[in-house]
Amino acid sequence: MKIEFAEYAIPKGGVVVAGVLEDKVLTPGATELDRRTSGAIGRALKNGRFQGRNGDRLDLVGPGDGSYERVVLIGLGKGKERDALRAQDLGGALVAHLNGGGVAKATVLIDAVPESPLPAGPAAARLAYGARLRAYRFDKYRTKEKEEQKATLAELTIAVAGAKAAEDSFRPLDRVADGVFFTRDLVSEPANIIYPETLAEAARTLAGFGVEVEVLGVAEMRRLGMGSLLGVGQGSEREPRLVVMQWKGSANRTEAPLAFVGKGVTFDTGGISIKPAAGMEEMKWDMGGAGTVIGLMKALAGRKAKTNVVGIAGLVENMPSGNAQRPGDVVKSMSGQTIEVINTDAEGRLVLADALWYCQDRFKPKFMIDLATLTGAIVIALGHENAGLFANSEELAERIAASGRATGERCWRLPLSENYDKALASEIADMKNVGDRAGGSITAAQFLQRFVNDVPWAHLDIAGMAWTKKDSPTVPKGATGYGVQLLNHLVQEYYEGK
Ligand code: BES
Ligand code: MN
Ligand code: ZN
Repeated sequence: MKIEFAEYAIPKGGVVVAGVLEDKVLTPGATELDRRTSGAIGRALKNGRFQGRNGDRLDLVGPGDGSYERVVLIGLGKGKERDALRAQDLGGALVAHLNGGGVAKATVLIDAVPESPLPAGPAAARLAYGARLRAYRFDKYRTKEKEEQKATLAELTIAVAGAKAAEDSFRPLDRVADGVFFTRDLVSEPANIIYPETLAEAARTLAGFGVEVEVLGVAEMRRLGMGSLLGVGQGSEREPRLVVMQWKGSANRTEAPLAFVGKGVTFDTGGISIKPAAGMEEMKWDMGGAGTVIGLMKALAGRKAKTNVVGIAGLVENMPSGNAQRPGDVVKSMSGQTIEVINTDAEGRLVLADALWYCQDRFKPKFMIDLATLTGAIVIALGHENAGLFANSEELAERIAASGRATGERCWRLPLSENYDKALASEIADMKNVGDRAGGSITAAQFLQRFVNDVPWAHLDIAGMAWTKKDSPTVPKGATGYGVQLLNHLVQEYYEGK
């Protein structure tokens, strides 16, 4: 789908989209369309349910003398509630609606909305951003797509006063969407295509955007003492990798970076503690945390964020085999701490233990945030509406939660404390890798915290968020890319040029 910005003008025909505020208050664009269709809009609004509430929609097909193919009225609700997120969601919902109607080309009229915190230019940019996010498709493996499954909308024109400025404010958002799409692509790929080596190769392509990319292999990780990460990977034919990505956007290239660390289990069978067959195919997206970190680096580099950032992805495949790790094995992590592996399916934390340690040890970051599809328990606790947020810093936690609210990628904080940590006591090693069933997401976070020194740290458990089975305005079903927008916002809002 092509998105274009054009100077505000009302087209003479075709498909035109215009807004109506609550209580059927027409925007100037809708008013003019009403005049040009001999009052068709006024007549349509007289009867029927359309009130102009946020989310209301009404299609007039061939209104008036038939010079317009279709006029789409969209409810804007109350002017003062029209913020960036609403504009974005509107753009997404509109793309789905136009595709549903088989429309190929449409023009959206953006009028300044009285009392809105968002002027017309940024509103246009946000609408375009939402439209692009929703137009995402992962269809490379469909060789026989039915006509009615295809997206019809090929061109969306956004008509706004000051089109040039609107397009300028769209450009960085467009780069963030590139990052989100990269994450969605990586997470959507099946595990026979994306495994540690190929995921690392995908990350290497970021070099083209100015990101320095290093890939550590098994020998190097062994030298570093990453017995915890390597133990998870030892059952697989596919060797583990650790990807280190650096974006140096700060004027001072040696300034301490912000750090993001992702769990990249390219397939999680559970290992010897094998998972049941039903639904196991979903474990191709157990690299979602790493996928988000890689997509985030693309977004930040793409829009040339003015700060230094490190992204680390711990990549392994968790398989059962004659060489697989056994329940009861004891491994030694890079931190020096030993771990009794009670359950080989609690592998994500074993990967992150070494990735987190390596990150803080080498980079001394300003903060460290990890993302992981870590526990099924977080889906029980929070469903698919919020990621679980854990943090050792009030300030960092509040900034992340605020960024979640601002971007619609929500998260909810859960506690950490010494009493939960006790569940990890082992009879023979420094700790075991699971507690009991109670508070499973929290004890997983406690485990991670044992590998974090005195650096502000947060953990996002995204097991309920990396994948969705239903469409929402800016996220078609499938891989969501959750976290790219949230963390991009965090970086931009609190750390750039500061
Ligand atoms: N990758 C899973 C977590 C997961 C489960 C993500 C369902 C998405 C949907 C993780 O590695 C795992 O298997 N966790 C176990 C931990 C348990 C063995 C303590 C779990 O949640 O059951
Ligand atoms: Mn597992
Ligand atoms: Zn896993």
